Amino acid sequence: MKKTVLDYILKVRLPLTLFVIILAFMFTFFASKKERDGIGYAPVQPIDYSHKLHAGDLGIDCEYCHTGVTKGRHALVPSVNICMNCHSVARKDKPEIVKLTEYYEKGIMLPWKRIHKVPEYAYFNHSVHVNTGIECETCHGEIKTMEIVSQVRGWTMGDCLECHRDPHEQLPYLKEVSYGPEHCAACHR
Ligand code: HEC
Ligand code: HEC
Ligand code: HEC
Ligand code: HEC
Ligand code: HEC
Repeated sequence: MKKTVLDYILKVRLPLTLFVIILAFMFTFFASKKERDGIGYAPVQPIDYSHKLHAGDLGIDCEYCHTGVTKGRHALVPSVNICMNCHSVARKDKPEIVKLTEYYEKGIMLPWKRIHKVPEYAYFNHSVHVNTGIECETCHGEIKTMEIVSQVRGWTMGDCLECHRDPHEQLPYLKEVSYGPEHCAACHR
């Protein structure tokens, strides 16, 4: 009698329980993968700044604010001075602009929250990619339609390599494009 109960537990209950646990783990693992890779990350920013309004509707060039993008490693986020080129006159009375002006007058850097970030041990350089002709949108999505910037790609090693191995697939608008490097030392220097 005892033996059959034990048999039942070992042969049926135990495998069934393990199966359910593994299934639940796999489900949460894959369901949360996008989030772990940072896709969809869109933090609330200190000023309610809109790319849709400035880069889309007003048509201000990306490089007017992101001045480093063709010159070096980082695209750079603009200082308040650049905003004040316009906002020392435009919409001065609006609450968000009053806030902006306070940062400017106190000489405090705006604490913009960083969205995209590859780890320190990996090397990425904007100018190389942008000067090759790769559009911002290929990597950052339709920024011109975003009220709040949201990360659209994972930026895992696999994501970088997928384009390096087959750039024509992701860059159909470039007639001639070199393959990106795949050797470890290119990105881990
Ligand atoms: C008037 C200035 C201005 C213009 C023009 C502008 N940006 Fe920005 N951009 C900002 C500011 C300020 C931030 C930081 C706040 C935020 O994330 O919204 C930012 C953030 C970003 C980020 C996220 C940075 C991070 O932390 O990872 C990306 C990507 C970006 N901009 C791309 C673009 C692209 C592409 C264009 C052109 C289509 C553009 N921007 C035009 C001011 C500007
Ligand atoms: C080239 C000029 C220009 C620059 C540079 C610029 N803006 Fe603007 N911004 C405008 C104009 C024009 C409007 C009003 C558009 C409208 O309401 O039709 C505006 C509107 C805004 C608003 C909405 C105000 C409201 O409540 O109506 C905010 C917030 C804002 N800008 C923040 C910023 C920040 C932050 C920066 C710097 C990163 C910046 N702007 C740089 C021209 C500019
Ligand atoms: C090949 C893909 C790629 C292209 C093309 C690209 N970016 Fe980026 N961008 C990234 C990655 C990856 C990061 C994170 C970089 C890091 O952590 O060093 C980033 C970060 C940023 C940031 C955050 C600040 C910084 O300097 O790291 C801004 C702003 C930005 N990009 C704007 C732009 C603009 C504007 C363009 C087009 C002119 C552009 N990017 C083109 C991949 C790209
Ligand atoms: C959409 C396509 C695309 C994506 C995404 C992309 N790259 Fe590239 N990358 C290229 C191309 C194309 C080249 C070759 C450019 C050339 O030689 O003209 C390149 C060249 C490079 C180089 C060699 C030039 C240099 O800067 O020393 C490095 C390093 C590099 N990429 C790192 C990265 C990293 C890290 C990522 C991910 C965070 C990444 N790339 C994502 C297309 C891409
Ligand atoms: C095109 C650029 C690129 C190349 C080439 C590259 N890596 Fe990476 N690697 C990255 C980036 C970006 C990350 C960070 C991604 C992340 O956090 O998921 C990374 C992360 C890693 C990590 C940490 C993984 C983790 O999950 O923490 C290891 C280990 C690694 N790379 C080893 C290598 C080796 C070995 C090679 C050569 C066979 C190589 N990489 C080639 C871009 C590259």
